[in-house]
Amino acid sequence: MSPLHVVILAAGQGSRMKSALPKVLHPVAGRPMLHHVIATAKQLGAERIHTVIGHGAEKVRETTTEASVNWVTQNEQLGTGHAVAQALPDLPDDARVLVLYGDVPLTRHDTLEALVGTLDDNTLGLLTVTMDNPHGYGRIVRNAEGKVVSIVEQKDATPEQLAIREVNTGILAVSAKHLKTWLPALSNSNAQGEYYLTDIIAMAVEQGLSVSVSQPEDPYEVQGVNNRLQLAELERWFQRREADRLMTEGATLADPARVDVRGELTIGNDLWIDVNVVFEGKVTLGSNVSIGPGCVIKDSTIAQGAEIRANSVIEGATIGANAQIGPFARIRPGTELAANTKVGNFVETKKAVVGEGSKINHLSYVGDASLGRNVNVGAGTITCNYDGVNKYRTVIGDGVFVGSNTSLVAPVTIAAGATIGAGSTITRDVADSELAVARGRQRNISGWEKPGKN
Ligand code: UD1
Ligand code: CA
Repeated sequence: MSPLHVVILAAGQGSRMKSALPKVLHPVAGRPMLHHVIATAKQLGAERIHTVIGHGAEKVRETTTEASVNWVTQNEQLGTGHAVAQALPDLPDDARVLVLYGDVPLTRHDTLEALVGTLDDNTLGLLTVTMDNPHGYGRIVRNAEGKVVSIVEQKDATPEQLAIREVNTGILAVSAKHLKTWLPALSNSNAQGEYYLTDIIAMAVEQGLSVSVSQPEDPYEVQGVNNRLQLAELERWFQRREADRLMTEGATLADPARVDVRGELTIGNDLWIDVNVVFEGKVTLGSNVSIGPGCVIKDSTIAQGAEIRANSVIEGATIGANAQIGPFARIRPGTELAANTKVGNFVETKKAVVGEGSKINHLSYVGDASLGRNVNVGAGTITCNYDGVNKYRTVIGDGVFVGSNTSLVAPVTIAAGATIGAGSTITRDVADSELAVARGRQRNISGWEKPGKN
């Protein structure tokens, strides 16, 4: 089949966003709208993705590091037909061309596949949708036999045409060969003085092409974003679909309306996810994982049976099976917790590799550290990993007991089985099974008299 080329229109200003950020860079599900569209185009197997940019072009290019994108500049926004025309020199004659929009981010792959899958030289594929309130959209005009004959824009329509509820989504597909004859022939003598892409429908019909109309499963798939209200609407639709997927795949959600997925979440069976949980980036959750309310989990893997309690923040971490985290734990990048570990409230870890069964239960900072198995880190223990210039490691062997309120001044190694007395500031290595105590000795002064009030 002839190669598929996708043209994405993204040159408009988007003034109703009231934003310094170009409209197509506003995120849905944590990702710029344009990037959703580019990903969909790639998924369709596009040989090349031509993105037409104008307003905020620099910023759009900078933010988009996608090798298969060919940037096309449209200096003046003279209309959708003019926009697609800017890409014509880069379209091979034998290509099938699909036109998408940088501000229509959530069209499903299947919907577009239906449009381009069977496209041939004698067909124009058009995606339409039927609306209760079609105001503002181009109307699909059909003849007495019900065949599409043209599209007429809102501002150019007769009162009879305005009553038509089937509207143009803007998304269409046709071979490049035809675009190359039609687009240069467009005129801008219409109510808006623009070169309308929609005028090619009448041209196609006149040349005897058949117009093959399809519709999306859900109108949100073709919903464009012009303001932040529509942005929020699409975000909620996307999130509701994600919630439905998670439930279908085996997660119980305390409230499907209060979980947000901003990235790629993969799950096992029998999960419990409480309210107000946010997943970002690439997250994998094993079976029987439980996530408490208010957690944020980013780019992490959590093995089966782990319990993440309320208000914990986990990023760039690997959490072993049946681990217990939180409430109020902060697990930072490079943390690797083995199975059956416990990290309790007000504990921060960073680049900490923690062996099976070890516990850091309360109020600690463990950074640039490796802990063996069954280590017990007492409340208030701090690894002093930073001297103001460099970072150093703390190494703790199997079965070590670290008393509460200990400072471990790195680099330092505590060998297996050692015990650290509470309140110690440890600056030298401790050998196998030794007891280290490094604190002021207690003096009890008898006969001490409290000062009297002056
Ligand atoms: C267009 C369609 C209309 C359809 C509607 C669906 C035309 C003439 N009309 O109308 O039939 O119902 O979309 O939303 O095509 N753009 C450029 N360069 C330009 C002009 C537009 O890149 O010169 C981009 C805009 O950034 C926008 C998109 O194309 O993302 C649509 O343009 P817009 O002017 O909003 O078209 P509508 O009037 O909504
Ligand atoms: Ca529009």
